[in-house]
Amino acid sequence: MKKVMEATNAMFPLPVVLVTSGDGKKDNIITIAWTTNICRKTPCIGIIINGKKYSLDLIKEHKEFIVNIPGQKNLKEVDICGGKHGDKVDKYKLTGFTKEKAKEVKASMIKECPINIECKLEDIYVKETSNLLIGKVLKLHIDEKILDNNGKIDYKKLDPIVYAQKTYFPLKEGIAKRGFGLK
Ligand SMILES: Cc1cc2nc3c(=O)[nH]c(=O)nc-3n(C[C@H](O)[C@H](O)[C@H](O)COP(=O)(O)O)c2cc1C
Repeated sequence: MKKVMEATNAMFPLPVVLVTSGDGKKDNIITIAWTTNICRKTPCIGIIINGKKYSLDLIKEHKEFIVNIPGQKNLKEVDICGGKHGDKVDKYKLTGFTKEKAKEVKASMIKECPINIECKLEDIYVKETSNLLIGKVLKLHIDEKILDNNGKIDYKKLDPIVYAQKTYFPLKEGIAKRGFGLK
């Protein structure tokens, strides 16, 4: 029997990313688990920033942000960036992360993250205290070390972090290829 529960955020797991913003000198990093792809033809991604956050101010000011995808080797830094506010501390100094110059936006990319996605802020959709920031992808940087022989991302090599119920999880093996059920 299924129990009917009060409405809650039941979507899981969610990939953890580090979103950077700023002008390349005064930069900030925020840990975000609420992300999504939005459209394919003009690649756009969405991130949710809930409530008043320093990153929200910076992204609104510069109209740009970068989605950096960390591997599990950066788990501690992910946790730190999600527990401190950038108007009070320099999270690059706190974590030891290295700034890497982006191609199209002023904010820095995190060198230690194998994937960096430069985005231009296109839209903000506000519902209650949540801000859905829609970013048009301008440039994508991928460390060659995490690519397979066909030039595709090898998720085993990326070793991403997923998040649910205040817990970090690994991403396990793929279990089947799409379309297998149609054969
Ligand atoms: C694993 C994890 C996931 C998080 N996901 C989100 C999120 O999706 N949206 C959000 O607004 N805050 C999220 N947070 C909280 C922010 O990262 C946190 O409030 C941060 O300190 C804000 O930094 P800032 O004030 O420097 O921008 C998350 C924190 C952690 C640890």
